[in-house]
Amino acid sequence: MNHSRRARAHPTATETSTERRARNLYDLVMPSRAPAYITTPIYYVNDRPHIGSAYTTTLCDVWARAMRLDGRDVFFLTGTDEHGGKVEKSAKDRGITPQALADENSAEFRKLLGPFCLSNDDFIRTTEPRHESQVKLFVERLLKSGDIYLGEFIGWYDEGQEEYITETRAKELEYKSPISGRPLVRATEKNYYFRLSAFQSRLEEFFKANPGFVRPEGRFNEVLGRLRDGLQDVPVTRTNFTWGIPMPGASEHVIYVWIDALFNYATALGLGEPQGALAQERAKYWPPAYHVIGKEILWFHAVIWPAMLMALDLPMPKCVYAHSFWIRNGQKMSKSLGNFVDLETIDGFFAKYGVDAWRWYMTTQGPIGTQDADFSDKHFHEIYTAHLVNTFANCASRTSSMIEKYFGGVMPAAETASMPISAAAGAPTWSAFTEATAAKVARHYEAFELAEASDAALSIVRAVDILINETAPFKLAKDPANLPRVAEILAACAEGVRVAAVLLTPIMPGKCAEVLTAYGSALDGDRASSGLAAAARWGGLTAGTKIAKCAPFMRVDAPVA
Ligand code: MSP
Repeated sequence: MNHSRRARAHPTATETSTERRARNLYDLVMPSRAPAYITTPIYYVNDRPHIGSAYTTTLCDVWARAMRLDGRDVFFLTGTDEHGGKVEKSAKDRGITPQALADENSAEFRKLLGPFCLSNDDFIRTTEPRHESQVKLFVERLLKSGDIYLGEFIGWYDEGQEEYITETRAKELEYKSPISGRPLVRATEKNYYFRLSAFQSRLEEFFKANPGFVRPEGRFNEVLGRLRDGLQDVPVTRTNFTWGIPMPGASEHVIYVWIDALFNYATALGLGEPQGALAQERAKYWPPAYHVIGKEILWFHAVIWPAMLMALDLPMPKCVYAHSFWIRNGQKMSKSLGNFVDLETIDGFFAKYGVDAWRWYMTTQGPIGTQDADFSDKHFHEIYTAHLVNTFANCASRTSSMIEKYFGGVMPAAETASMPISAAAGAPTWSAFTEATAAKVARHYEAFELAEASDAALSIVRAVDILINETAPFKLAKDPANLPRVAEILAACAEGVRVAAVLLTPIMPGKCAEVLTAYGSALDGDRASSGLAAAARWGGLTAGTKIAKCAPFMRVDAPVA
């Protein structure tokens, strides 16, 4: 993602083609202002949390906060995936029960939520009775409908991924795992199968009618390409380990971890028991607006899960958003290379730059598109300094200091709505510019174009910066006769900072609250629930409001190369 390093044109209120696309996607994804549901993958408990899991959850959090700020009723789900042969084996190696291992590592994931400012509404664990009982009910329904049947299967199996691979794809992969590189094994199993092959044409039709179902577009094309190879039925049970949900009526089988895990999105809302108390409260959130995942688990989410939902007659999610990977110095992160950006490393960034800076970097520089993104200390520092210290903090601090110096820390009275944002010919007025920008930001957030949302919001800060540089209020103020003009300039700057801080709140909740509080405009009560456009409307900061000096981000030393 290098959009934020691109040279920027002077901000205007006209719509670009990217914005038009965002508006179309917005129409596609959110036809109404219905309750909104967003999910992360549920993370394996045999791994510790690291930048990857923190990244996906942070993106979902930004979206959830943005939608809440826009007055939407949001449900944001994350959790842990706790069954399967790998967990059973790791637990055995450590001489503890799989449940003890799951408890321990699931807690590690939950511990992240506070420090990363993640505002999930629930945290689901696949070993919870509420999940297990509903998975059984779903599977019983699928057995009854004939979409799950008992059969025998011989195929290529990726042991590390616990996944079967089709003959065509196995050949393409030279019979090696695309993830671990280890040889695929020939496996035979008497198993229960999901009749995925029966959904080929329904899926094709669905994809044709819903071109925004998988995003980004490049990932959708990959799915469509693989779909052309034809679909095979997929095993939904295993007999080679016991750590899983027993198959109803055949307890020598346990439900395959992937099938068990996918159901989490539905069980968290109680959909397995439509008459139950949980469903009464939460069924309104279905279908999800976004299942946000990493690119490696796209097939399960884009093909197997939709087919299961079709078999269960449940409405389709609006979008499966598959981001790419964080890599480290051009290389894949792996345990063997020891180059993971792990929690200890992240703690170092928190200590030096703070969590809001971390969230800013994740949101604006991450692998949200089809390209992997390289995580580097130097780049992090550059972005921190350029965007947060030199742009956002600089404007908030210069403006508040000048208001203190020239107006005793009180917002001066001035008519700014119809003031042009700059001396450039055709420059929009502050109220028109910020209104158009707020609408653009809201659309980008909703369409999960989070880097674009951040960039549009920051364009207001850049406009404030241009105004200060063009008019030099600190020079004008030397002559008392200019004070009405200085009042006008600083009132516009202060209101611009306030509006930008409102729009950036989903990404940097802590620092934006700090700025808004200093500017006497904390987003509480009515201000927070009136919708993004209303909260960002020009004129929210009224004359007489006390403005305290603030410097939300401080310059820090560059990392040692
Ligand atoms: N348990 C399954 C998911 C089941 S969802 C029904 C799983 N878990 S996982 O612990 O391996 O988490 C995978 C997810 O972690 C990825 O899809 C992605 O969201 C995140 N990431 C893991 N490594 C990553 C990077 N290096 N970069 C970005 N995100 C990555 O698969």
